[in-house]
Amino acid sequence: MRSYGNPAVMSTKGTALTLLVLSGLIAIGNALRCNCTNCESSGYECETDGACMASTSNIAGVEQHVRICIARDKLMPPGQPFYCLSAEGYLNTHCCYSDYCNSVDLKVPKVSRLPAIESALSSWGPVELVAVIAGPIILVCLLLIVGVLVFQHHQRTYNHRQRLDVEDPSCDHLYLAKDKTLQDLIFDLSTSGSGSGLPLFVQRTVARTIVLQEIIGKGRFGEVWRGKWRGGDVAVKIFSSREERSWFREAEIYQTIMLRHENILGFIAADNKDNGTWTQLWLVSDYHEHGSLFDYLNCYSVTIEGMIKLALSAASGLAHLHMEILGTQGKPGIAHRDLKSKNILVKKNGTCAIADLGLAVRHESSTDTIDIAPNQRVGTKRYMAPEVLDETINMKHFDSFKCADIYALGLVYWEIARRGSAGGVHEDYQLPYYDLVPPDPSIEEMRKVVCDQRLRPTVPNWWQSYEALRVMGKIMRECWYSNGAARLTALRIKKTLSQLSVLEDVKM
Ligand SMILES: Nc1ncnc2c1ncn2[C@@H]1O[C@H](COP(=O)(O)OP(=O)(O)OP(=O)(O)O)[C@@H](O)[C@H]1O
Ligand SMILES: [Mg+2]
Repeated sequence: MRSYGNPAVMSTKGTALTLLVLSGLIAIGNALRCNCTNCESSGYECETDGACMASTSNIAGVEQHVRICIARDKLMPPGQPFYCLSAEGYLNTHCCYSDYCNSVDLKVPKVSRLPAIESALSSWGPVELVAVIAGPIILVCLLLIVGVLVFQHHQRTYNHRQRLDVEDPSCDHLYLAKDKTLQDLIFDLSTSGSGSGLPLFVQRTVARTIVLQEIIGKGRFGEVWRGKWRGGDVAVKIFSSREERSWFREAEIYQTIMLRHENILGFIAADNKDNGTWTQLWLVSDYHEHGSLFDYLNCYSVTIEGMIKLALSAASGLAHLHMEILGTQGKPGIAHRDLKSKNILVKKNGTCAIADLGLAVRHESSTDTIDIAPNQRVGTKRYMAPEVLDETINMKHFDSFKCADIYALGLVYWEIARRGSAGGVHEDYQLPYYDLVPPDPSIEEMRKVVCDQRLRPTVPNWWQSYEALRVMGKIMRECWYSNGAARLTALRIKKTLSQLSVLEDVKM
């Protein structure tokens, strides 16, 4: 608020007194005559050479009306004289320059509302008023909605990050504590979880921290390496990029629920790493320094006890693979379809681990179907069952594939038993049908021998002299029947060999 007149006077009596003093200053005898509220002695009139002034004020709720003369020399500054100024909300002043022109009745200025707003409000129509009232409400609502959306987005981002954190290798410390060995890890997960293996992100982290040491073998799908992880050995099967389907299928089969078994190769991890030029496909498993049963039998003959251990453990592995376990934590029946001595590994303790599950098929018992469309002739020709060679196998019937596995197991038993020493005698190592077909036989060559001539590997007569070899010989023959359904089951073989192991006092 601006100040008017002498502040000392204003503070005691307000505008009325101020104006009283001012009126005394006005020169008498001027042509301009004005109303004067303070000029009782001169009949409420005054004369001035300046201007007439009327003023209405509202100070501390008290209304004052003043009419006075203002001398010319007080009309400063020119154009907007100090004494003629109004103060918004407090003082309404009117200066004029004709006789008694200050008789106007000025309105008391309102203090509560600014004149600008008041005039605006009075000039607004209903639309503007609604806009003015509804506007802020809408604004508040919008702010609330934006707030809720921002909060939800934040929550979603947070949850997403939480999930990523679980998948992020940086979280692997949960599983990959420094002192954990692979065996600990796998034990933890196979006893607590679904039994189907390590979480994928742990698999990836393990695979990417393996240091490859040396190549140990080459197969149809790629190379096998010995690698190191935390000081322990692992086997890494590296598939060529065009074998992606085989890699995927093998990893998938190995991660079948409840598959883990002491006589099935322990699967550790699958990883597909894109190095920019090609995709590296890794399958990491337990490493067995003896290598395959083929390698082992080529190098060593075995005792009767060793023979039974190999045979019984292989039967246990195959029985577990073939077996369907019912229930939510159950496992489907699985047929191997490429069983041979090269696909069975020999563990340190002289037992077997069945490997190379890439061609396996699973039985969906609820629908009695097979999980992939099986192609007729897969596997290794030398080990193909007669019904596979002559394509009479009933592929709609899952058990047909199990029977074909049993035929191949019989051939593997023949390879093992030949290396079994009894009385200081054993046979040299040979592949089945070594004497009947060339080294890399065609299907046709195999079919002629196995289907047409109905030939089987020779069981030496001297085996009859030794109970263990006799039993082995008997099992083989019962694995080789032309009629698949007549063959022994893996479980039956396992039971027979278990009895044999008790008889021969074999410690497994
Ligand atoms: N987990 C393992 N531990 C030790 N050695 C292994 C392991 N896996 C494979 N090998 C070795 O690597 C070799 C190659 O294995 P791979 O399965 O690739 O080929 P294969 O079985 O010889 O032939 P195929 O391609 O017909 O299956 C095996 O014969 C074996 O000597
Ligand atoms: Mg193999």
